[in-house]
Amino acid sequence: MNRPAILFAALFVSAAVHAAPFEKGDPKIGKTLHDKACVSCHVGMFGGDGSKIYTRGDRKTKTAQQLAARISGCNANTGAGWFPEEEAHVGAYLNQQYYKFK
Ligand code: HEC
Repeated sequence: MNRPAILFAALFVSAAVHAAPFEKGDPKIGKTLHDKACVSCHVGMFGGDGSKIYTRGDRKTKTAQQLAARISGCNANTGAGWFPEEEAHVGAYLNQQYYKFK
């Protein structure tokens, strides 16, 4: 490969990583984990299925990094005991369903 091709490949790879936060997570697994450990308080606060906490206009989470941090924090706070892979599954689910960070 010549030098411009290598540069191009590197750019492409970093763009792809950036384009898909939580790409290692599986949203289906994430939904199961989330529905088990995470909805009770959110429902108490917002009613319905609690998802309004993610879609309200003044939601706190503005970037994929903040979402990841929030999931980690809630994981620790609630004692869900998830591994990093499980946090990634939940991130993939919440991002696909509600946040749509690129
Ligand atoms: C003990 C109650 C409780 C549980 C259980 C809980 N949360 Fe939360 N969650 C909150 C509160 C309180 C907030 C903050 C609301 C605010 O700041 O307005 C919040 C906010 C959030 C937000 C940010 C919403 C926004 O504004 O964008 C995310 C994401 C979130 N929780 C994810 C989770 C996940 C994932 C779990 C499961 C591990 C979970 N929560 C379990 C109480 C809870």
